[in-house]
Amino acid sequence: MLVLGIESSCDETAAAVVRDGREILSSVIASQIELHKPFGGVVPELASREHLEKIEPIVDEALERANVSLKEIEAIAVTQGPGLIGSLLVGVCYGKALAFGLDIPCIGVNHIEGHVYSVAFENPPVEYPALALIVSGGHTNLFFIPEAGKYKVVSRTRDDAAGEAFDKVAKMLGLEYPGGPVIEKLAKEGNSNNIKFPIAKISDGRPDFSFSGLKTAVARYVRENEIEPLAKGETPNQAIKDLCAGFQATVIKSLVGTMEKLAVELVPKTLIVAGGVACNNALRDAAQNAAGKLNLPVYFPSKHLSTDNAAMIAAAGNFHLERGERADLRMTADVTMRLQNFENEDAALKKKKVRYRL
Ligand code: KG4
Ligand code: ZN
Repeated sequence: MLVLGIESSCDETAAAVVRDGREILSSVIASQIELHKPFGGVVPELASREHLEKIEPIVDEALERANVSLKEIEAIAVTQGPGLIGSLLVGVCYGKALAFGLDIPCIGVNHIEGHVYSVAFENPPVEYPALALIVSGGHTNLFFIPEAGKYKVVSRTRDDAAGEAFDKVAKMLGLEYPGGPVIEKLAKEGNSNNIKFPIAKISDGRPDFSFSGLKTAVARYVRENEIEPLAKGETPNQAIKDLCAGFQATVIKSLVGTMEKLAVELVPKTLIVAGGVACNNALRDAAQNAAGKLNLPVYFPSKHLSTDNAAMIAAAGNFHLERGERADLRMTADVTMRLQNFENEDAALKKKKVRYRL
């Protein structure tokens, strides 16, 4: 089945043509990083306007690069949520209208499930049960996946996402947006042993993540040690490099330590690490190391497929389409979409008054 994937949940307009959920014929991404750089983060209004301008040329380019015509496309998979409402609506409206016009099926895809499916390419098929760590600018979750399509959140962030922490710490230090790649580069030249930060422990004992305390600890360290944010064009000094190394090491230790602990408990057959932060080589090395100790395979997407893209949306959509699922014209963007449909624990958490921001 030839599926056209469309992704517009945040600051990337992307389209891809994927065969049978495993073979990428084309994957085109228009990143808005330069547009949002002066603001140090994504400006929702600017993002949705840019999506509107880019969606048609990007879809056309994806078809052209795949060397297929619209008539050959058999279904459309589009990100339905979570994400920014204005951004999501552009992709959802475009995808639905195109599918209606072509009289082919359309499916709304959960963006996080898309990240899980980003490992469907360039890796052996996932063996279930799997344990997936999805880390990006908006999400930090560990999912237990007993079989394809079933998800249980076994750990999540109580406050900031890991990528968001990278971005905010970078902003604090006067580094460029997005912060992840810049911090990774500087961390390589720094010594993480020079600045140690504590890993947040959740008082109710759940294996959840928390990164806002770490952000505050970095801010305090910056203040107390009189570290000045970099001016434009200024070269980072050793203190900033060490700070980046210490911060990155703490985030990775928290992510991989929790994944390892839950893997021992849940005995998966495959580990998955995906999402924008999975671009980070130090995280990949730590996850690989943990997987080695557990004697489990760990799958990562290639760098192109780690950040937001439409090939992963087409792959996730392909799975649901094969099961006969279809969206009708009432399907619309859903910013609150969650990925948990197995042993739903929300009610129990509400009773315990556990609050999550995401
Ligand atoms: O998956 P993604 O493109 O968008 C969301 O769905 O959020 O992830 C973007 C996030 C940003 O916060 C960015 O700083 C982070 O991924 N990121 C990294 C690296 N490359 C991107 N974080 C750490 N190290 C990297 N090399
Ligand atoms: Zn994403």
